[in-house]
Amino acid sequence: MIHTGVELCAGFSYQVLIGSGLLEAVGNYTVKHVRGQTCAIISDTNVTRLFADRVKKSLTLAGFEPTLIRIPAGEKSKTFKHAEAICEKMIGAGLGRQSFVVGLGGGVIGDLSGFVAAIYHRGIAHIQIPTTLLAMVDSSIGGKTGVDTSAGKNLIGAFHQPSLVIDDVDVLKTLPRRQFNQGFAEIIKHAIIADAKMFKQLQSWKTRLPWQPLALQRLVCRNIKIKTKIVAQDEYDRTGKRALLNFGHTVGHAIERAGNYRKFLHGEAVSLGIVAACAISVKRAGLSTRQRDAVIAVLQRFGLPTRLPKNFSRNKIVGSLKFDKKFESGKIRFVVTPRIGAAYLTTDVTLEDIREAIGEL
Ligand SMILES: NC(=O)c1ccc[n+]([C@@H]2O[C@H](COP(=O)([O-])OP(=O)(O)OC[C@H]3O[C@@H](n4cnc5c(N)ncnc54)[C@H](O)[C@@H]3O)[C@@H](O)[C@H]2O)c1
Ligand SMILES: [Zn+2]
Repeated sequence: MIHTGVELCAGFSYQVLIGSGLLEAVGNYTVKHVRGQTCAIISDTNVTRLFADRVKKSLTLAGFEPTLIRIPAGEKSKTFKHAEAICEKMIGAGLGRQSFVVGLGGGVIGDLSGFVAAIYHRGIAHIQIPTTLLAMVDSSIGGKTGVDTSAGKNLIGAFHQPSLVIDDVDVLKTLPRRQFNQGFAEIIKHAIIADAKMFKQLQSWKTRLPWQPLALQRLVCRNIKIKTKIVAQDEYDRTGKRALLNFGHTVGHAIERAGNYRKFLHGEAVSLGIVAACAISVKRAGLSTRQRDAVIAVLQRFGLPTRLPKNFSRNKIVGSLKFDKKFESGKIRFVVTPRIGAAYLTTDVTLEDIREAIGEL
């Protein structure tokens, strides 16, 4: 098993455990990190069916009293309404200030359970057990929690760091291939913005499953370190450092929105956004066309889309751009890469550049 400490600032850090077969021992790992005995396991319908029994049993054997709260699978459940219903169930089950929340699931469950943990009794401990690759390498790290509203995704939320993250790579065996691949969009993003060596590895990575658990564990660990290093410099997303993680996301989010969140998975939209960001980087940041092509080839290696379907409205994507938080002041802040392994935020990119890049997708 790999232990990695996530050190956000002097005096505040938490542990991430990465390994195989960890679900059976969740209770033992949790003991050191919480004070209370009662907890809520928040999970979705798919994940409950697969893993909730094991986690519940392990917590019970370790002396905890877990209450399982199940919500329907999918982004539609990441709402205030569900957060409220969960809080009410927790009150009904007698959970108090010392109780804790275990989020067992993908990014939807991580964000929602983290939000509940942030507001319940003004903040209780949160244990994350991510079950998608995307959640392991991205959403479970960094402390951003939240819910969607009709006005947009992730507009309401709170920063609430977990007390412990448990990544059991065995759970990825049941993940549908498309879900697995979308995790690679964030991994490839991390490589482009901060890790040229990992990019090289991805270029020759075996993409066919099954994988050696150890290779997966190392990959997850490396990505957690990349994200943590960036988050630690700007925990509350104020100085622009954390914005580097948005590479590929300005256009990616607009594509997701234009597809009504149904046409593309988040990672698939980000893959297209990365292609657009690379085209803009060639124009504005001196990225070589050779490196741009290498990025496209790696995205394709992992089954991610690099071209939009012919009949998909480019205008709708451009129209969706204005909903982006980065556009609210009228000035565009865009993340570009001058070479693989580096990125910076700039105001040199124009709306026309973005429109052109979308047109080329
Ligand atoms: N907080 C952050 O920093 C951050 C970062 C990136 C993304 N996010 C959020 O993450 C969410 C997307 O996360 P996601 O892609 O994990 O989606 P998700 O949680 O909806 O999971 C995807 C699907 O896979 C199923 N599933 C999960 N684990 C499984 C397993 N092991 N085997 C079989 N099926 C499994 C789920 O039931 C669901 O149907 C979005 O809401 C996004 O906003 C947050
Ligand atoms: Zn993302």
